[in-house]
Amino acid sequence: MTELNFQRHRRLRQSAAMRSMVRETHLHTEDFIYPVFVAEGTGIKKEISSMPGVFQYSLDRFGEELDEIVSLGIPAIMIFGIPAEKDAVGSGAYHDHGIVQEATRFTKERYPELLVVADTCLCEYTDHGHCGVIENGQVLNDPSLDLLARTAVSQVEAGADIIAPSNMMDGFVAAIRHGLDAAGFQHIPIMSYAVKYASSYYGPFREAAESTPQFGDRKSYQMDPANRLEAIREASSDVEEGADFLIVKPALAYMDIIRDVKNNFVLPVVAYNVSGEYSMVKAAAQNGWIDEKSVVLETLTGMKRAGADLILTYHAKDAARWLEGK
Ligand code: PBG
Ligand code: ZN
Repeated sequence: MTELNFQRHRRLRQSAAMRSMVRETHLHTEDFIYPVFVAEGTGIKKEISSMPGVFQYSLDRFGEELDEIVSLGIPAIMIFGIPAEKDAVGSGAYHDHGIVQEATRFTKERYPELLVVADTCLCEYTDHGHCGVIENGQVLNDPSLDLLARTAVSQVEAGADIIAPSNMMDGFVAAIRHGLDAAGFQHIPIMSYAVKYASSYYGPFREAAESTPQFGDRKSYQMDPANRLEAIREASSDVEEGADFLIVKPALAYMDIIRDVKNNFVLPVVAYNVSGEYSMVKAAAQNGWIDEKSVVLETLTGMKRAGADLILTYHAKDAARWLEGK
Protein backbone atom coordinates (compact mmCIF):
# COMPACT_ATOMS: atom_id res chain seq x y z
CA MET A 1 0.00 0.00 0.00
CA THR A 2 1.31 3.45 -0.88
CA GLU A 3 2.12 5.67 2.07
CA LEU A 4 -0.73 8.16 2.51
CA ASN A 5 0.03 11.29 4.41
CA PHE A 6 -2.93 12.69 6.31
CA GLN A 7 -4.03 13.88 9.74
CA ARG A 8 -6.04 11.69 12.11
CA HIS A 9 -8.48 14.23 13.60
CA ARG A 10 -10.74 11.43 14.75
CA ARG A 11 -8.20 10.41 17.39
CA LEU A 12 -9.55 13.16 19.62
CA ARG A 13 -13.21 12.28 19.01
CA GLN A 14 -13.27 8.61 19.79
CA SER A 15 -15.01 8.68 23.19
CA ALA A 16 -17.08 10.98 25.32
CA ALA A 17 -14.19 11.32 27.76
CA MET A 18 -11.75 12.23 24.97
CA ARG A 19 -14.16 14.75 23.45
CA SER A 20 -14.76 16.31 26.81
CA MET A 21 -11.01 16.62 27.39
CA VAL A 22 -10.49 18.72 24.24
CA ARG A 23 -13.74 20.69 24.34
CA GLU A 24 -13.00 24.40 23.78
CA THR A 25 -16.25 26.04 24.85
CA HIS A 26 -18.29 25.43 27.98
CA LEU A 27 -21.75 26.64 28.81
CA HIS A 28 -22.57 27.38 32.45
CA THR A 29 -25.67 28.51 34.28
CA GLU A 30 -23.62 31.50 35.51
CA ASP A 31 -23.45 32.70 31.89
CA PHE A 32 -27.17 33.44 31.77
CA ILE A 33 -29.25 36.54 32.37
CA TYR A 34 -32.98 35.79 32.31
CA PRO A 35 -35.35 38.50 30.98
CA VAL A 36 -38.64 38.88 32.89
CA PHE A 37 -41.80 40.87 32.22
CA VAL A 38 -43.54 42.51 35.13
CA ALA A 39 -46.92 44.19 34.68
CA GLU A 40 -48.80 46.70 36.81
CA GLY A 41 -51.96 45.20 38.31
CA THR A 42 -52.80 42.15 40.41
CA GLY A 43 -53.43 38.48 39.81
CA ILE A 44 -51.62 38.46 36.47
CA LYS A 45 -49.75 35.43 35.19
CA LYS A 46 -50.29 35.64 31.47
CA GLU A 47 -48.40 33.57 28.94
CA ILE A 48 -47.15 35.47 25.91
CA SER A 49 -48.78 33.66 23.01
CA SER A 50 -45.76 33.91 20.71
CA MET A 51 -43.32 32.95 23.49
CA PRO A 52 -44.51 29.69 25.07
CA GLY A 53 -43.18 29.34 28.62
CA VAL A 54 -42.65 33.09 29.08
CA PHE A 55 -45.17 35.01 31.20
CA GLN A 56 -46.09 38.53 32.23
CA TYR A 57 -46.45 38.67 36.02
CA SER A 58 -47.97 41.19 38.34
CA LEU A 59 -45.93 41.70 41.50
CA ASP A 60 -48.20 39.58 43.70
CA ARG A 61 -47.45 36.58 41.46
CA PHE A 62 -43.85 37.41 40.62
CA GLY A 63 -42.41 35.72 43.73
CA GLU A 64 -42.98 32.21 42.36
CA GLU A 65 -41.01 33.12 39.26
CA LEU A 66 -38.12 34.51 41.33
CA ASP A 67 -38.08 31.38 43.52
CA GLU A 68 -37.66 29.20 40.47
CA ILE A 69 -34.93 31.40 38.94
CA VAL A 70 -32.93 31.40 42.16
CA SER A 71 -33.41 27.66 42.78
CA LEU A 72 -31.95 26.99 39.32
CA GLY A 73 -28.83 29.02 40.12
CA ILE A 74 -29.39 31.74 37.51
CA PRO A 75 -27.37 34.71 38.78
CA ALA A 76 -29.17 37.64 37.13
CA ILE A 77 -32.48 38.83 35.71
CA MET A 78 -33.28 41.69 33.38
CA ILE A 79 -36.55 43.39 34.26
CA PHE A 80 -38.92 44.77 31.62
CA GLY A 81 -41.94 46.69 32.84
CA ILE A 82 -45.46 46.94 31.47
CA PRO A 83 -47.10 50.03 32.98
CA ALA A 84 -50.86 50.49 33.36
CA GLU A 85 -50.69 53.87 31.65
CA LYS A 86 -48.52 55.41 28.96
CA ASP A 87 -47.96 59.02 27.91
CA ALA A 88 -46.01 61.04 25.35
CA VAL A 89 -42.86 61.36 27.47
CA GLY A 90 -42.83 57.92 29.11
CA SER A 91 -43.24 59.18 32.69
CA GLY A 92 -43.73 55.64 33.98
CA ALA A 93 -40.09 54.87 33.16
CA TYR A 94 -38.69 57.34 35.71
CA HIS A 95 -41.42 57.34 38.33
CA ASP A 96 -40.15 56.38 41.81
CA HIS A 97 -42.96 53.87 42.06
CA GLY A 98 -42.88 52.79 38.42
CA ILE A 99 -43.29 49.10 37.73
CA VAL A 100 -39.58 48.36 37.18
CA GLN A 101 -38.67 50.27 40.35
CA GLU A 102 -41.26 48.34 42.38
CA ALA A 103 -40.26 45.00 40.84
CA THR A 104 -36.63 45.78 41.64
CA ARG A 105 -37.41 46.57 45.28
CA PHE A 106 -39.48 43.41 45.55
CA THR A 107 -36.70 41.29 44.04
CA LYS A 108 -33.88 42.73 46.14
CA GLU A 109 -35.90 42.32 49.32
CA ARG A 110 -36.61 38.67 48.59
CA TYR A 111 -33.23 37.79 47.06
CA PRO A 112 -30.55 40.39 47.80
CA GLU A 113 -27.89 38.32 46.02
CA LEU A 114 -29.82 37.97 42.73
CA LEU A 115 -28.45 40.62 40.35
CA VAL A 116 -31.06 42.94 38.91
CA VAL A 117 -30.29 44.38 35.51
CA ALA A 118 -32.71 47.20 34.68
CA ASP A 119 -33.58 47.77 31.03
CA THR A 120 -33.41 51.53 30.63
CA CYS A 121 -35.65 52.64 27.78
CA LEU A 122 -38.82 54.61 27.20
CA CYS A 123 -40.68 52.57 24.57
CA GLU A 124 -42.73 50.51 27.03
CA TYR A 125 -43.91 53.76 28.65
CA THR A 126 -44.59 56.04 25.68
CA ASP A 127 -48.01 56.08 24.04
CA HIS A 128 -46.35 56.28 20.61
CA GLY A 129 -44.11 53.29 21.38
CA HIS A 130 -40.81 54.92 20.40
CA CYS A 131 -37.67 54.84 22.53
CA GLY A 132 -37.40 58.64 22.83
CA VAL A 133 -39.29 61.90 22.76
CA ILE A 134 -41.17 62.75 19.54
CA GLU A 135 -41.54 66.05 17.71
CA ASN A 136 -43.07 66.35 14.25
CA GLY A 137 -42.86 62.60 13.80
CA GLN A 138 -39.11 62.55 14.55
CA VAL A 139 -37.44 60.86 17.50
CA LEU A 140 -35.39 63.61 19.16
CA ASN A 141 -31.97 62.67 20.42
CA ASP A 142 -30.78 65.10 23.08
CA PRO A 143 -34.09 65.73 24.87
CA SER A 144 -34.40 61.95 25.30
CA LEU A 145 -31.05 61.72 27.09
CA ASP A 146 -32.22 63.57 30.18
CA LEU A 147 -35.16 61.24 30.61
CA LEU A 148 -32.94 58.18 30.25
CA ALA A 149 -30.55 59.47 32.91
CA ARG A 150 -33.50 60.10 35.23
CA THR A 151 -34.80 56.61 34.55
CA ALA A 152 -31.43 55.05 35.36
CA VAL A 153 -31.06 56.98 38.62
CA SER A 154 -34.54 56.01 39.81
CA GLN A 155 -33.87 52.36 38.94
CA VAL A 156 -30.66 52.38 40.96
CA GLU A 157 -32.40 54.13 43.86
CA ALA A 158 -34.81 51.18 43.83
CA GLY A 159 -31.89 48.75 44.07
CA ALA A 160 -30.88 47.88 40.49
CA ASP A 161 -27.34 46.48 40.35
CA ILE A 162 -26.69 47.13 36.66
CA ILE A 163 -28.18 49.62 34.20
CA ALA A 164 -28.82 48.39 30.66
CA PRO A 165 -29.74 51.23 28.31
CA SER A 166 -31.33 49.95 25.09
CA ASN A 167 -32.69 52.99 23.35
CA MET A 168 -29.87 53.71 20.86
CA MET A 169 -29.86 57.52 21.14
CA ASP A 170 -26.37 58.94 20.55
CA GLY A 171 -24.64 59.76 23.82
CA PHE A 172 -26.91 57.63 26.00
CA VAL A 173 -24.02 56.01 27.84
CA ALA A 174 -22.37 59.37 28.53
CA ALA A 175 -25.64 60.87 29.74
CA ILE A 176 -26.46 57.94 31.99
CA ARG A 177 -22.90 57.71 33.37
CA HIS A 178 -23.02 61.39 34.18
CA GLY A 179 -26.45 61.10 35.78
CA LEU A 180 -25.45 58.12 37.91
CA ASP A 181 -22.17 59.71 39.02
CA ALA A 182 -23.89 62.96 39.95
CA ALA A 183 -26.36 60.99 42.08
CA GLY A 184 -23.53 59.21 43.91
CA PHE A 185 -23.79 55.94 41.96
CA GLN A 186 -20.26 55.81 40.55
CA HIS A 187 -20.11 52.11 41.45
CA ILE A 188 -23.03 51.02 39.26
CA PRO A 189 -21.98 49.41 35.96
CA ILE A 190 -23.57 50.15 32.59
CA MET A 191 -24.35 47.19 30.37
CA SER A 192 -24.84 49.01 27.11
CA TYR A 193 -26.87 47.74 24.19
CA ALA A 194 -23.93 49.03 22.18
CA VAL A 195 -24.76 47.19 18.98
CA LYS A 196 -28.48 46.92 18.43
CA TYR A 197 -29.86 46.24 14.98
CA ALA A 198 -33.29 47.27 13.65
CA SER A 199 -34.40 43.65 13.61
CA SER A 200 -37.59 41.79 12.79
CA TYR A 201 -36.60 39.27 15.45
CA TYR A 202 -38.02 41.60 18.13
CA GLY A 203 -41.62 40.89 17.04
CA PRO A 204 -42.65 38.60 19.92
CA PHE A 205 -41.00 40.90 22.50
CA ARG A 206 -43.12 43.80 21.32
CA GLU A 207 -46.19 41.68 22.02
CA ALA A 208 -44.77 40.72 25.44
CA ALA A 209 -43.81 44.27 26.39
CA GLU A 210 -46.65 45.99 24.52
CA SER A 211 -44.09 48.31 22.93
CA THR A 212 -44.78 48.25 19.20
CA PRO A 213 -44.16 51.69 17.63
CA GLN A 214 -47.51 53.27 16.74
CA PHE A 215 -46.07 54.86 13.59
CA GLY A 216 -42.94 54.34 11.53
CA ASP A 217 -40.15 52.06 12.66
CA ARG A 218 -36.90 52.23 14.66
CA LYS A 219 -34.55 52.48 11.68
CA SER A 220 -33.45 56.05 12.44
CA TYR A 221 -31.92 54.91 15.72
CA GLN A 222 -31.32 51.15 15.53
CA MET A 223 -28.69 49.81 13.13
CA ASP A 224 -28.97 48.55 9.57
CA PRO A 225 -28.58 44.74 9.62
CA ALA A 226 -26.26 44.97 6.61
CA ASN A 227 -23.54 46.86 8.49
CA ARG A 228 -20.47 45.50 10.20
CA LEU A 229 -18.04 48.44 10.52
CA GLU A 230 -20.84 50.50 12.00
CA ALA A 231 -20.95 48.02 14.89
CA ILE A 232 -17.35 48.88 15.70
CA ARG A 233 -18.15 52.60 15.61
CA GLU A 234 -21.12 52.11 17.92
CA ALA A 235 -19.17 49.97 20.38
CA SER A 236 -16.15 52.33 20.31
CA SER A 237 -18.21 55.34 21.29
CA ASP A 238 -19.90 53.43 24.10
CA VAL A 239 -16.52 52.31 25.42
CA GLU A 240 -15.28 55.91 25.35
CA GLU A 241 -18.44 57.05 27.13
CA GLY A 242 -17.87 54.57 29.96
CA ALA A 243 -19.71 51.34 29.17
CA ASP A 244 -18.75 48.36 31.36
CA PHE A 245 -20.35 45.59 29.27
CA LEU A 246 -21.18 45.52 25.53
CA ILE A 247 -24.39 43.88 24.31
CA VAL A 248 -24.78 42.64 20.74
CA LYS A 249 -28.39 42.18 19.73
CA PRO A 250 -29.84 40.06 18.17
CA ALA A 251 -27.41 37.15 18.38
CA LEU A 252 -28.19 34.38 15.91
CA ALA A 253 -27.95 36.33 12.65
CA TYR A 254 -25.07 38.41 14.08
CA MET A 255 -22.48 35.89 15.26
CA ASP A 256 -19.78 37.64 13.19
CA ILE A 257 -20.53 40.86 15.03
CA ILE A 258 -20.23 39.13 18.40
CA ARG A 259 -16.77 37.96 17.34
CA ASP A 260 -15.80 41.41 16.03
CA VAL A 261 -16.79 43.05 19.30
CA LYS A 262 -14.97 40.38 21.30
CA ASN A 263 -11.79 40.87 19.26
CA ASN A 264 -11.80 44.66 19.18
CA PHE A 265 -12.56 45.48 22.81
CA VAL A 266 -11.57 44.20 26.22
CA LEU A 267 -14.95 44.42 27.94
CA PRO A 268 -17.31 41.51 28.69
CA VAL A 269 -19.51 40.82 25.66
CA VAL A 270 -23.16 39.94 26.13
CA ALA A 271 -25.18 38.26 23.37
CA TYR A 272 -28.92 38.91 23.41
CA ASN A 273 -30.66 35.77 22.17
CA VAL A 274 -33.84 37.71 21.37
CA SER A 275 -37.53 36.85 21.41
CA GLY A 276 -37.90 35.86 17.75
CA GLU A 277 -34.96 33.49 18.04
CA TYR A 278 -36.64 31.88 21.03
CA SER A 279 -40.04 31.66 19.34
CA MET A 280 -38.67 29.96 16.24
CA VAL A 281 -37.06 27.22 18.30
CA LYS A 282 -40.16 26.79 20.47
CA ALA A 283 -42.46 26.56 17.44
CA ALA A 284 -40.30 23.99 15.68
CA ALA A 285 -39.94 21.98 18.89
CA GLN A 286 -43.69 22.00 19.51
CA ASN A 287 -44.18 20.63 16.00
CA GLY A 288 -41.76 17.83 16.74
CA TRP A 289 -39.46 19.07 13.98
CA ILE A 290 -36.36 19.56 16.13
CA ASP A 291 -35.08 18.29 19.44
CA GLU A 292 -35.46 21.33 21.68
CA LYS A 293 -32.85 20.51 24.28
CA SER A 294 -30.03 19.75 21.87
CA VAL A 295 -30.88 22.64 19.54
CA VAL A 296 -30.97 25.14 22.42
CA LEU A 297 -27.71 23.94 23.96
CA GLU A 298 -26.03 23.93 20.53
CA THR A 299 -27.25 27.47 19.82
CA LEU A 300 -26.15 28.86 23.18
CA THR A 301 -22.78 27.11 22.89
CA GLY A 302 -22.42 28.69 19.43
CA MET A 303 -22.97 32.13 20.91
CA LYS A 304 -20.27 31.55 23.49
CA ARG A 305 -17.93 30.17 20.85
CA ALA A 306 -18.60 33.30 18.77
CA GLY A 307 -17.27 35.36 21.68
CA ALA A 308 -20.10 35.99 24.11
CA ASP A 309 -19.12 35.97 27.77
CA LEU A 310 -22.74 36.19 28.89
CA ILE A 311 -26.06 35.41 27.22
CA LEU A 312 -29.38 37.14 27.75
CA THR A 313 -31.83 34.37 26.93
CA TYR A 314 -35.44 33.29 27.44
CA HIS A 315 -34.11 29.70 27.38
CA ALA A 316 -32.15 30.32 30.60
CA LYS A 317 -34.39 28.33 32.95
CA ASP A 318 -34.61 25.33 30.63
CA ALA A 319 -30.91 25.46 29.80
CA ALA A 320 -30.00 25.67 33.50
CA ARG A 321 -32.14 22.59 34.17
CA TRP A 322 -30.53 20.67 31.32
CA LEU A 323 -27.02 21.68 32.34
CA GLU A 324 -27.66 20.52 35.89
CA GLY A 325 -29.10 17.27 34.52
CA LYS A 326 -32.59 18.00 35.90
C1 PBG B 1 -36.77 48.04 23.68
C2 PBG B 1 -36.26 46.66 23.62
C3 PBG B 1 -36.52 45.72 22.61
C4 PBG B 1 -35.92 44.54 23.01
C5 PBG B 1 -35.32 44.77 24.24
N1 PBG B 1 -35.52 46.10 24.59
C6 PBG B 1 -37.32 45.80 21.37
C7 PBG B 1 -37.18 46.87 20.43
O1 PBG B 1 -36.16 47.56 20.32
O2 PBG B 1 -38.17 47.05 19.72
C8 PBG B 1 -35.98 43.26 22.24
C9 PBG B 1 -35.82 42.03 23.02
C10 PBG B 1 -36.28 40.80 22.36
O3 PBG B 1 -36.77 40.77 21.21
O4 PBG B 1 -36.18 39.77 23.02
N2 PBG B 1 -35.84 49.05 23.65
ZN1 ZN C 1 -36.96 51.08 23.53
